[in-house]
Amino acid sequence: MKRKNIAAANWKMNTTVQEGVALMNELCAQDLDKGAQVVVCAPATHLYALSQLSTPEHVAIGGQNIYTKDSGAFTGEISCPMLKSTGATYAVVGHSERRAYFAETDEFLGEKAKAALSHGLTPIFCCGEGLDIRKAGNHVEHVMAQLKASFALLTAEEVAQLVIAYEPIWAIGTGETASPEQAQEMHAAIRNYLKDAYGADTADSISILYGGSVKPANAKEIFGQPDVDGGLVGGASLKADSFSAIVNSF
Ligand code: 13P
Repeated sequence: MKRKNIAAANWKMNTTVQEGVALMNELCAQDLDKGAQVVVCAPATHLYALSQLSTPEHVAIGGQNIYTKDSGAFTGEISCPMLKSTGATYAVVGHSERRAYFAETDEFLGEKAKAALSHGLTPIFCCGEGLDIRKAGNHVEHVMAQLKASFALLTAEEVAQLVIAYEPIWAIGTGETASPEQAQEMHAAIRNYLKDAYGADTADSISILYGGSVKPANAKEIFGQPDVDGGLVGGASLKADSFSAIVNSF
């Protein structure tokens, strides 16, 4: 199975609903490569409004977080059925900002991925190492441990439905990007782990995205690596022209 090329925007906690609607309209007015799956991960408050816009078929919307429970006394949380009901089809799970600021653990993130899949949402499952771990040379080991701890909760069929995003924390919002070789090294290690644990068909079918200061100037070279199937883009996704240039970099 040929895996998908995916350009995913992570707007993080940016834009009002009105600004988000304007940004989505502007993005969809561009000529976007139909061979790429585009996913706009917007704040949850925006998703229903975005789903009501007329957008090309290959542009999907996603949430940036979900809770594991379907409903109940969990003030402020957003469940998978709620997210699904907005029209979203993807959900970012385990972004490093959630791990760092909201103490989300590997195990809890495995539960979130499971919950998302049970409601037909595709998790964009994030992993990545900090600068100290990279400097010590333990980055591959660290990312493998993150994935193994989370995926222990998932069946092989569930793992096969994930999108994985490798986001080195030292490259997020810093302007510093992993080199194409550094990205390829980690993506190949992830795919190798998937092959050993779940078989070659699963490993070949999972899209693995790179995230961390992706911009129009570096997207083509990073996306050109054999095991890089696209990007998860923060800052550069907040301008329609720069994100569309990234979408058109495959
Ligand atoms: P930047 O593209 O702003 O570095 O953010 C990357 C990211 O965290 C996407 O999820």
